[in-house]
Amino acid sequence: MILDNNKRNPSNIVSSEITPREVFENRRQFIKAAGFGLAAGALSTSFLAQAATVVGGETKGDGVLIGRANAKNQTTKATKLEKIPAYKKTNYGSDEKLTSYEDVTTYNNFYEFGTSKSDPAIHSTLFKPRPWSISIEGEVKKAKTISIEDLMKLAPLEERIYRMRCVEGWSMVIPWVGLPLASLVKWAEPTGNAKYIEFVTANDPKTMDGVRVPVLDWPYVEGLRMDEATHPLTLLAVGLYGEVLPNQNGAPVRLVVPWKYGFKGAKSIVKIRFVEKMPLTTWVKAGPSEYGFYANVNPLVEHPRWTQSSEKRIGAGLFAGRIKTKMFNGYDEVGQMYAGLDLRKNF
Ligand code: MTE
Repeated sequence: MILDNNKRNPSNIVSSEITPREVFENRRQFIKAAGFGLAAGALSTSFLAQAATVVGGETKGDGVLIGRANAKNQTTKATKLEKIPAYKKTNYGSDEKLTSYEDVTTYNNFYEFGTSKSDPAIHSTLFKPRPWSISIEGEVKKAKTISIEDLMKLAPLEERIYRMRCVEGWSMVIPWVGLPLASLVKWAEPTGNAKYIEFVTANDPKTMDGVRVPVLDWPYVEGLRMDEATHPLTLLAVGLYGEVLPNQNGAPVRLVVPWKYGFKGAKSIVKIRFVEKMPLTTWVKAGPSEYGFYANVNPLVEHPRWTQSSEKRIGAGLFAGRIKTKMFNGYDEVGQMYAGLDLRKNF
């Protein structure tokens, strides 16, 4: 059930002003309750039980060791990441303070590498983001594939500083490097039947221990309506802080849709399908009453179990208060795409 501000019971409000840790644990309980439990013979039951200790988004936990005993000793930046040689600065930006590289790359959601925030940085070291290609399928003149190198040449790379608001109630400010998704859409030559795009992401049990546990229905799938996909704000990110994407942030290419909750930002994309019908996305499949297809940041449409009216900015310090969440995460120019759409029903 989705609550709105007018219908909220005041006694609920206080208890729902929860920290990221509690939200995170709620999400894990939700996953269990939804029946995505551990399959017989799957990895240790400690996978879910030993979640990291994440205190208000400031402290990283030990993470969950998923079958690789040495992972704990690996540093988060074991390999030096390549600088992106040329990209232009743009006016897309924010006068807000950038979230530190350390926080952006060690406080992650990437369930293919584990469900605690510190897991992706620790457990993604075997993942190989190159060579890489994306298969373009469905309602296009001709199915084709594109290598990551060619993709990076489709349009001049740009730096864009975007706010990212996670559905769990925390946010960051991240300097991405990427290109408009619109340039790939143009290159793909979709037919007139293409109304939506489905993004399918990597699902490799050899290098992604998390997919051996059925916490979600793998592969992770996301989707956008065509007008959303071709909106100038929608980015295919290939880097951050001037370097290629770290594995834990979705190397080598991920989606960034800054006016939507972070879960729309599919990481490590392997397939892009142009389709006629709204794709059934992973989180909608997992919990249709909690996670919608649109997932526009909206402080007026509460998550059934916590508030969406405010957020905690990661790295702001233990004593920083929560900040008010803005409609469309402050990217008001997207509003016209939803004229006539009931955003409470289409949450
Ligand atoms: N993409 C894949 N393939 N798997 C995931 O678990 N998590 C999503 C999104 N993309 C996720 C994913 C969620 S819930 C969020 S909030 C963002 O990635 C987090 O991106 P970040 O770790 O780079 O901050």
